[in-house]
Amino acid sequence: MKLRTFSAACSFALLPMLATAGDNKIDIGQLYTGEFRVEHSDLANMTLAEKRLAGMRMFTNPFLKSQGFGDGDDNPPSPSATGNHEGERGTLQGNGSFQRINGLDAQTCLECHSVISRRKVPFTTGIGGVGGINNTVLGAGGATLVDLKSTDKKTNVNGRVINPPFIFGAGGIELLANEMTIALQKQLAAAPAGATTALFAKGVSFGSITKDAFGEVVVDADGNAVGAEGTFRLNPRNADGSHNEDFLVVAPFGRKGDAKSTRDFDIGALSFHFGMRVDEGLDHDNDGVVNEVLDGELSVLSVFVGTAQTPFAKAPDAEAVRGRHLINEIGCTGCHIPSMETNTKHLGFRAPDVANDPTANVHTYVNLARAPMSFEKNEIGGVTVELFADLKRHYMGANLEEFNGDGMFTTMRLWGVADTAPYLHDGRAFTIKDAIQTHGLDPASEAFTAVSNFNNLSEDDQNALLAFLDTLRSPNGTFPRLLNHVANEVALEQGVTAN
Ligand code: HEC
Ligand code: HEC
Repeated sequence: MKLRTFSAACSFALLPMLATAGDNKIDIGQLYTGEFRVEHSDLANMTLAEKRLAGMRMFTNPFLKSQGFGDGDDNPPSPSATGNHEGERGTLQGNGSFQRINGLDAQTCLECHSVISRRKVPFTTGIGGVGGINNTVLGAGGATLVDLKSTDKKTNVNGRVINPPFIFGAGGIELLANEMTIALQKQLAAAPAGATTALFAKGVSFGSITKDAFGEVVVDADGNAVGAEGTFRLNPRNADGSHNEDFLVVAPFGRKGDAKSTRDFDIGALSFHFGMRVDEGLDHDNDGVVNEVLDGELSVLSVFVGTAQTPFAKAPDAEAVRGRHLINEIGCTGCHIPSMETNTKHLGFRAPDVANDPTANVHTYVNLARAPMSFEKNEIGGVTVELFADLKRHYMGANLEEFNGDGMFTTMRLWGVADTAPYLHDGRAFTIKDAIQTHGLDPASEAFTAVSNFNNLSEDDQNALLAFLDTLRSPNGTFPRLLNHVANEVALEQGVTAN
């Protein structure tokens, strides 16, 4: 691929934008298509702005059937789809596009990640935001029969219902998770045989592990490490006895805390929502299109997501300051930890991910203290991430359990919460107060005590707490900032070329 040629073309294409930066009318739909597709080997020659722009195209581009949107014929199931459910999804009334349940359910990422704030009417939109109720994803579950073509018209739907969160601040979250994983893996390796070792990462407890006399981690009947908690995978060995690379890996993304990186998440999103597969040279979904998403394109998409803007806090008034103290006093901050520190400013984007070694295969480093992420630098050479979460999974009670009885969710980050209604994993809570009360209804919920404390506060104090949460705001969407940033970088590059 002629990247330098492209770069020059891109610079010229972007020039008019300098003049029209205000209206953001730039058509990136044709960039990075045809001969300008992004291969892994191209990454080394692209500037960060070029990667982000290419990633923004991936995020906002309506995928076409000719590019691989959709799955192959489901009847009979695709022979090459053995072992995974992709390639076997029918479409609504056989129309070749949407089924809604278990995907295909959209044509672009932006369709579901586009609400910046719902605080005022009408709501404001922008790239990377949350989704409303009609963007809620319906995932088919174990006992599901969704046969929309069946003649007896029997449909039995049972599965996951998940509302889209925003992508803002994702880079800071990924870096925190990487460092926490590294800490847990070190403790796992160093834990002595014949003893119990407590697990901690950034001050968050992940329970403990016990090693037997032979140095093997002691497991329960389900194969999970006795005493360990809080990560998605707690089993040191896979069913076949092999080492499980995901054991004690902090996976912050997804409502259930099951995706370790934006890249990891994006692979699933592309496949689930659009039937766009990252399987270079192959056609796993049997739709006659190969190279639907190139590895380099997945990489730039994750760079785009991981360099989105960061949520911010408005200066609190006296009432909000009181509320800030209250969330601490009543125990909310046990899980919604106000801020965590990273040891470095530099997030490494990797391809492919090695679950238990976040330092492997890095293709791009990004300084998170730079715009547009603009995390505040700390005193140890890293950045402060004001997330209001612990990147740990907790049991939320029977009322929040999903269809399969699974009530474990990752602590929702409260940054931006003033703008991101509806709340909770399935969007069932329309107000913040409703969200608070709903996740502590069941005495078995880990949030029960803190939420009971909230319920026992005077109305004045409850309002102060809500006033504090109302200071936590979403950024204005990553699109205008990226355009300005790209424009500056292009101007800079041209200055350099001119010399
Ligand atoms: C049909 C709606 C929909 C579309 C289209 C969609 N998403 Fe999402 N997105 C969601 C939902 C729902 C979640 C929560 C998923 C979960 O909990 O597992 C989510 C979560 C995410 C997250 C994790 C955020 C976090 O903090 O946990 C990222 C990153 C993300 N989406 C990126 C993408 C990208 C990239 C695309 C396009 C390839 C995309 N999404 C397309 C609905 C959508
Ligand atoms: C045991 C850990 C824990 C405690 C304690 C806790 N929370 Fe949560 N919180 C969670 C989890 C986990 C979720 C996500 C639930 C879901 O996805 O359905 C959540 C979700 C929320 C949400 C919804 C956010 C959104 O965007 O959907 C709000 C608001 C919230 N918590 C506020 C509070 C307040 C205020 C307190 C104190 C009264 C509190 N929480 C105590 C773990 C906790």
